[in-house]
Amino acid sequence: MKKSIFITAVSFMLCFFSVGLAFSMPSGPKLFKEYYCIDCHTLGHQGGTVGPDLSKIGKTKSLAWIKAQIFHPGSHFLLGTKTKINGKMYLVRMPGFKTIPPAVANKLAEYIKTFPSRRQNFSYKIPKGLALFRADNCVACHTINGVGGKVGPNLSHIGKTKSLSWIETQIIDPKVHFTYGVPTTINGHTYLVIMPTLNKISSSQLNTIAKYLESLK
Ligand code: HEC
Ligand code: HEC
Repeated sequence: MKKSIFITAVSFMLCFFSVGLAFSMPSGPKLFKEYYCIDCHTLGHQGGTVGPDLSKIGKTKSLAWIKAQIFHPGSHFLLGTKTKINGKMYLVRMPGFKTIPPAVANKLAEYIKTFPSRRQNFSYKIPKGLALFRADNCVACHTINGVGGKVGPNLSHIGKTKSLSWIETQIIDPKVHFTYGVPTTINGHTYLVIMPTLNKISSSQLNTIAKYLESLK
């Protein structure tokens, strides 16, 4: 009797755990776009051409090979040289995504490994706020979900502690919050206060970018 209760409890826990994982891990197409892969690679019809089309990659490369390429392209290709892939020449310059959380890289590699597949479901649209975050070069100094610079604080959970209006002010007038040129400690790390003022931004773009950041809990 006791044993069966135990087994039931364990299977309930496992069930909740896997449901939790299914909800928290973004889909393959989402990762492919949010982690910049799409800027350089096509999967079918959309995407960049700086790197090879990946829509048949699953036929020729193993899962382990794909994961290694994401973390450390240098293990396959020599940076700065030219290499021929599927009959086309490429300048080797894929960045290593060493800071992507391993679970994310696994999911991404598993997704790509399924290609070519009939159900490509590649319709995910990148949030406008994230696109602006990149276009306005915030990403050069700030990391979100493992990608970006370290000159400024990690913003992956900024919406937990900061309001929409606080974030808007930080973007157009950071000196309201921090004194320029002075080191300041944020979440246990010390930063030199150098965030530039972005005064060329329209109010709707400002709102879009701030809303996106505020949604990161
Ligand atoms: C700045 C452009 C760029 C970005 C961003 C980029 N790649 Fe690449 N990728 C390349 C180039 C160029 C190559 C050719 C070899 C190299 O540079 O290492 C390549 C090669 C590859 C290959 C091997 C292709 C083959 O047929 O052998 C895979 C797999 C791959 N990339 C996956 C990804 C994934 C997944 C991401 C996102 C996490 C990504 N790439 C982001 C440019 C990029
Ligand atoms: C040149 C590097 C740099 C660029 C570009 C930059 N930031 Fe910052 N950011 C910083 C630094 C350093 C700080 C710490 C405080 C300061 O400098 O004002 C900061 C602070 C922040 C904070 C507060 C973080 C916290 O935890 O309190 C937010 C939000 C922020 N930046 C958003 C942005 C956005 C959005 C953009 C693009 C429009 C951007 N930053 C562009 C360097 C940068």
